[in-house]
Amino acid sequence: MAEVIVLETPAEAGTFVAAHIAAQVRREPAFTLGVATGSTPLPVYEGLRAERDAGTDFTRMSAFALDEYVGLPAGHPESYRAVVDREVTEPLGLDPARVHVPDGSAAGIETAGERYEAAIEAHGGVDLQLLGIGRTGHLGFNEPGSSFGSLTRVKTLTERTRLDNARFFDSLDEVPIHCVTQGLGTILRARHLVLLAFGESKAEALAAAVEGPVSASMPGSAIQLHQRVTVVVDTAAASQLRFADYYRWAQDHKPEWQGI
Ligand code: GLP
Repeated sequence: MAEVIVLETPAEAGTFVAAHIAAQVRREPAFTLGVATGSTPLPVYEGLRAERDAGTDFTRMSAFALDEYVGLPAGHPESYRAVVDREVTEPLGLDPARVHVPDGSAAGIETAGERYEAAIEAHGGVDLQLLGIGRTGHLGFNEPGSSFGSLTRVKTLTERTRLDNARFFDSLDEVPIHCVTQGLGTILRARHLVLLAFGESKAEALAAAVEGPVSASMPGSAIQLHQRVTVVVDTAAASQLRFADYYRWAQDHKPEWQGI
């Protein structure tokens, strides 16, 4: 079962996860971070900037993004390439050549998935993959029904996800219908998964992912198949967890030598 850490606020969770990543980077500067987009990972990126200010050197770190929209004009501020550059690459001083995002441009879209898989493989995989969860239960953009063995490929977004993401665009019509996303099988190859969820609106999907049956209808439940998963949530997102008391008990009695 995943280790579940319940903290009071997203800021506290961001600081906690960033401290762990920074410690890994100080030990292994060529660390590879799997980056997610959306609102959820932002406190982690803020925490990483604080770690940079406190002296951690991230400049040799590599990054692989989970997903990208298909067909947004190059440089669109809400393309995930732009978000990753703004939140991670530039502030942490990463070499842009070491920051990878699936290619969502229409030209060559048929091969975007294979090319991205090849890049991850050639690099030697991802050390720690940050994940958020959508209200449909999606990881990356793997909507319900995605195969647990799936690799990076083009997917169609659900209307629910398009509506949820419309807040980043001027109108719903601007939200792309297609995306290129790492598959659940790709995500499961990362050496450590860190799933974040904040707020009441994620409580149901989070509980289903962490404690519900393993099912392609709930893509988030794929994490139950991974040997090293840390779930870091705030109290609101934890509100529907059946075993919340046990998770808190386990945290209170965690052996000091044990990291996450
Ligand atoms: C987005 C992303 C996911 C993200 C999820 C939740 O659309 N593709 O990687 O985890 O949906 O988004 P948010 O964190 O904004 O709630």
